[in-house]
Amino acid sequence: MDIKRRHFIKAITAAPIAGSLIGYKIAAADIAGVSPEKAFGFSDNKVPMNAANLCPMPTAINKSIDSFSDDLDFDMSGQNRSRIMAIKEVARNGLGKQLNISADDIAITRNTSEANNIVVQGISLQAGDEILLWDQNHPSNDVSWSVRAKRSNCIIKHINVPVNTQDIDKVVDLFLEKITDKTKVISFTHISNITGFRLPAQEICQAIKAKHGQVHIHVDGAQTWGLMDVDLDAMGCDTFSGSSHKWYMGPREIGLLVVRQESINRIWPGIVSIGWGNAAETNAKGARKFEAFGQRNDAALAALSETVNFHTSITPSGVERRAIKIADYLRQSLIDIDVEFVSSHHSNFTSNVIILKAPQENRRQLLDNVLKDGGVILAGTGGLRLSPHIYNTVDHVDRAVRAINKSRKLLG
Ligand SMILES: Cc1ncc(COP(=O)(O)O)c(C=O)c1O
Repeated sequence: MDIKRRHFIKAITAAPIAGSLIGYKIAAADIAGVSPEKAFGFSDNKVPMNAANLCPMPTAINKSIDSFSDDLDFDMSGQNRSRIMAIKEVARNGLGKQLNISADDIAITRNTSEANNIVVQGISLQAGDEILLWDQNHPSNDVSWSVRAKRSNCIIKHINVPVNTQDIDKVVDLFLEKITDKTKVISFTHISNITGFRLPAQEICQAIKAKHGQVHIHVDGAQTWGLMDVDLDAMGCDTFSGSSHKWYMGPREIGLLVVRQESINRIWPGIVSIGWGNAAETNAKGARKFEAFGQRNDAALAALSETVNFHTSITPSGVERRAIKIADYLRQSLIDIDVEFVSSHHSNFTSNVIILKAPQENRRQLLDNVLKDGGVILAGTGGLRLSPHIYNTVDHVDRAVRAINKSRKLLG
C-alpha cells in the first residue's frame, strides 16, 4: 500500500475514534461526579496500554470501593454487612444479563487463575482420560492441567494453531481431529496473552458439542471479558473464566467462573467454608458453591456492581466497538512503520492484544524507552505487547508508535 493511501486510511479511522471515545468518559465521570477528564486517574506521562495484564479502574469504581469500605468500618453491624453483601447479588444479576446466562451459573472468584483451577483440580476424571489443550494457554490453564494429569494419571495432548492461519473452518478442524473417545476435557484461551490470536470460540464449541456432546469445554476468558460483547449461551462452552481487574476495569482480586447448570455436579470445589452450608450436600444455589471461600473483601465485591452499571451504561457492544477502533488504528500505525508482528493480521483472528517480534534480551530496554520517550506503559510478554482499551486515545497510540520507531533497532 502506498504511503498516501495509508495516511488516508489513518485519517478516516482516527476521526471517528476521537468522537466515539467521549461517551465512555462522560459515563464514567457521571457515576463518580467528576469531570470527564478525570474519568480515569492515570498520569499523562504513564499511560497504561497493558490491559491484557491490568487495567486502571474508572475513578468512579475507586471511589465506590472507598465508600463501601468506609461504610463498613463506620457501621459493622450484621445488618449493615448483610446490606452491603447483598449488593454482590445485584452485580451477579447484571453480569448474568451482560453475558446472557443465568445469574445462578456465576461464581464470583478472586481471579482467572483461581477460576481456571477450580475446573482443573475439581472436575471428575479417571486414569487414562485425555485432556486437550491449546498450546497458547496461560500457565493457569496449562501447567495446572499437568499437575492434575499427574495426580489422576490422565493424558495431555496439545493443539497447535499456526499464527498465519486464514480460515476459521481449518482452525475448528484442528480441534476436532484431536478428539478421541477418551477425550474428556478441551480447554483453551479465547484470546492468547502471548500471541494475541483470537480463537473462533463459538465455532469451536458448537462443532465439538455437535459431535461430542459429553466433552467438557472450558474457555479461559481473561483476555475477553470486558473487551468483547460475549454471549456465553451462544458460545456454548461449559465453563468460562475471567478477571475483573483486566478488560472489565473493575475491582482488583475479583474474578468470575461461569459453570453452566448441567456441569455444576461434575466439578468438586477445592474450598468449603461459610456459604456452603452445614452438610456434604451444599445449600448454595447453582455456581455459588464454588465461592464458599470465607471472609472476602466485601467493599470490592459491592463495587463490582458499580462496574456492572458502568458497562451497562456504555453497553458491552459499545465497549467492544470503541476498543476495536483504537486497536485497528494502532495495528495500522505499526504496519505503517514496517515492523514485524507476532500477532495475526487476519480479521478472523485479530484482537486488542497486539504483539511485535522483539528478542527477549531487548524487551526490558524497549519498555523503558517507550515509557521514557512516549510516556506509555507496555509489556514484554510474547514480544513487545501493546493492549489498548477504551481509555487509550489516538495521541497515546501516536506517542507509543513514535517511541517504538525511535528504538526500532532493539526489535531485532
Ligand atoms: C489468558 C490468561 N489466563 C489467565 C490469566 C491469569 O489472570 P489472573 O492473574 O487475573 O488470575 C492471565 C493473566 O494475564 C491470562 O492472560
